[in-house]
Amino acid sequence: MKQVDIHSEVFNPAYYPYLDSANRVQVFYGGASSGKSVFLSQRAVYDLLNGGRNYLICRQIGRTIRGSVAQEITKVITDWGLHGLFQINKTDGTIICSNGYQVIFAGLDDVEKIKSITPAKGAFTDIWVEEATETDERAIKQLIKRQRGGDAKVPKRLTLSFNPILQLHWIYKRYFSQIAWTEEQKEYSDDNLLILKTTYKDNKFLTAGDVSDLEGETDKYFRDVYTLGNWGVLGNVIFTNWRVEDLAAMSDQFTNHRAGLDFGFSNDPSAMPVSHYDRSRKTIYVYKEIYETGMTNDVMAETVKAMIGNKEVIGDSADARSINELQNKGINIRGAKKGPDSVLHGIQWLQQQTIIVDKSCINMRNELQQYKWKEDASGEIVHRNGDPVPVDRDNHLIDGLRYSYEEDMTDGWWFA
Ligand SMILES: Nc1ncnc2c1ncn2[C@@H]1O[C@H](COP(=O)(O)OP(=O)(O)OP(=O)(O)O)[C@@H](O)[C@H]1O
Ligand SMILES: [Mg+2]
Repeated sequence: MKQVDIHSEVFNPAYYPYLDSANRVQVFYGGASSGKSVFLSQRAVYDLLNGGRNYLICRQIGRTIRGSVAQEITKVITDWGLHGLFQINKTDGTIICSNGYQVIFAGLDDVEKIKSITPAKGAFTDIWVEEATETDERAIKQLIKRQRGGDAKVPKRLTLSFNPILQLHWIYKRYFSQIAWTEEQKEYSDDNLLILKTTYKDNKFLTAGDVSDLEGETDKYFRDVYTLGNWGVLGNVIFTNWRVEDLAAMSDQFTNHRAGLDFGFSNDPSAMPVSHYDRSRKTIYVYKEIYETGMTNDVMAETVKAMIGNKEVIGDSADARSINELQNKGINIRGAKKGPDSVLHGIQWLQQQTIIVDKSCINMRNELQQYKWKEDASGEIVHRNGDPVPVDRDNHLIDGLRYSYEEDMTDGWWFA
């Protein structure tokens, strides 16, 4: 293979020293836009070029890989002018270097694929789990088993990357508690474990606009997690009345269906939770979700049909045109009525239910976990006209859930 020169300037200096780190477990975490995903993508391409390493790159949900980490790696290959050396196969989810070493992408939700895949040559020396806070500990343990065999001289690595959304997370307990990590630390390293904490300040490629967005964050929790990269401690969460279960075995009892659609496109995802309502027990079972950016109304119509057929969907009435288009494509959809103060009253109504979320609905779990009242810099809840204000962020599925239960809320008072 011909010699490829990669200039150190293409890397953020905060990460460059870790290009060849051999620690068994490597944790790259911290604030938003700190350069984690790009660096780890660069490292994967660099390792493939050098040969001897194969990567298994995972996220919890397989279909989210293509728009994120697969795209980052493809971009590195393009930016470095290496198209001729790599074969990118989108349908298989593989990238193969001309020396035979490869990256394989897989969702942890595809258990069969995870069990059966092996690289063409050698073993998976590297497993990288992107957005690792989406995963549970057991899935990661299973993954490590996929690293058996291969050349004993090449150190095996498990790399985890994520934002530190919640200090109660198993990742914190497992890797941070035991070394008595403090937030002032930036790095920890022993044979088994590397931890590198980064923030936007470590990313020299950010635009001034990106920086001022992050520096302008006033909510204490979001500032802690996404600006400063500190482990999140949620005080003022809105929903604590929910839990995760495996609902697969119950699915034939789910007859009292509700679906609500919040439209997104480029920045925000289109989001639709599907649930069953057990009215007598005031219990909502969320068992399916759509959560995807870049969905056209055509794709949305197909996805909704495949998921719930002709059952009713309540959509965000702010997007009358999309509702109309979906109707024309045969979807049984109508706009939410939205009464005055509908957000707050919807929240209060949902707080009085028990919400059970299927384990596959990762995005619903994330939203419920993080949805919170807006706080000022000292952590006090912000009020407007005497009412607490929810943070208008990461609430797409929750908005959809509110729309879908609008009629059930009429026991309340605003349609009276
Ligand atoms: N080495 C680099 N070269 C060029 N641009 C970069 C580089 N590293 C980061 N960037 C730019 O900074 C942006 C943010 O980086 P990246 O997506 O890697 O952050 P992140 O830490 O993964 O953020 P998040 O926590 O939000 O996932 C990228 O979209 C890219 O535009
Ligand atoms: Mg990232």
